[in-house]
Amino acid sequence: MKQYLGIETSCDECSASVISKSAERIEVGSVATFSQIQIHQPFGGVVPEISSRNHLETVNAMIDRALSEAGTTMSSISAICVTNRPGLVGSLLVGVSAAKALSYASGVSVVPVHHLEGHAASVFLDTGLEPSRVKYPLLLAIVSGGHTNLYVIRKPFGKWEPDELKRSLVGKSRDDAAGEAFDKTAKQMGFPYPGGIWIDQTSEGGDPRAFDFPRALKGAKELDFSFSGLKTAVALKIKALNSEGQLQRQLPNLCASVQEAIVDALATKFSNAYREFSCQSFALVGGVAANRRLRAELERRFPGRYVPKSQYCTDNAAMIAAAGAFRYEQGQFLTRTQQLTLNAIAAAEV
Ligand code: KG4
Ligand code: ZN
Repeated sequence: MKQYLGIETSCDECSASVISKSAERIEVGSVATFSQIQIHQPFGGVVPEISSRNHLETVNAMIDRALSEAGTTMSSISAICVTNRPGLVGSLLVGVSAAKALSYASGVSVVPVHHLEGHAASVFLDTGLEPSRVKYPLLLAIVSGGHTNLYVIRKPFGKWEPDELKRSLVGKSRDDAAGEAFDKTAKQMGFPYPGGIWIDQTSEGGDPRAFDFPRALKGAKELDFSFSGLKTAVALKIKALNSEGQLQRQLPNLCASVQEAIVDALATKFSNAYREFSCQSFALVGGVAANRRLRAELERRFPGRYVPKSQYCTDNAAMIAAAGAFRYEQGQFLTRTQQLTLNAIAAAEV
């Protein structure tokens, strides 16, 4: 098995990881992650400059820890896989610069990785899923804090075109991403950032039918998502409950109803797209894939679906290493000279 080092600094997780990959499976040797969540919490969201400065302080330590916890050194690493797009540009630059320096010092090639390709590859991390067993067309849903994208993938992992995701996109959110809908409605209820996990937990014991929130763009052929109406409806409901002094008592019902509206909107579109494109398999990835209600609903609708382990749903460097490994095997890596001009890209199209 070949070993790969991953580096992820696109947003608020500073992460490095070593994975091993063979044709049959991908195993995680180590993941060292420093989460900045508590640093950004007082501001109610990620502050880009604080993020990049913090990555600069922690990235070397994460790389050292990932290597030592995997019991390996740079001389056994086949490639340095680093997220270079999309994300906060100052934060991406820290990871990209670290990868370049490491490559220059060690002679190991760099593979630039699209963050969303990393999420896609997370289904293989320690799941035993053999890449050659995935059936196509694959309906791939990437549901995170920044994206709610639906893709119909026809080419196997490891045979992707450079812009495979872009050319496979069949649906996306027209406004807020699903994770953003969780975070913004949670913020309105007074929960800290990021609010998805709080809504997931507070929903326990709540009645998902207590409040009827809107599901936008409902047509069977409509594969785009929209969550901004939900945000407004929840704000109005919170105002009403507050004025009746009922908000605290109704919080589990409110959370369960918001969660149901998001899960229902997602799952309905997934089913429509699956049918429309005669898909043979389904994968759900991204931070929101950690949501327990969503996972249960998808298990019901798509019994053979692929989902990552919960710890690999949110941002981590293991998934970046995995996506980079597929690209490396295709010969898509940069030589020591080529990597000198590698840059970070804030907004990749998809
Ligand atoms: O993939 P990710 O770590 O970062 C981006 O690339 O955006 O996703 C973070 C998002 C946040 O919006 C967070 O609230 C959401 O994933 N999230 C959840 C849960 N865990 C994380 N949303 C709902 N339920 C969860 N259990
Ligand atoms: Zn992400």
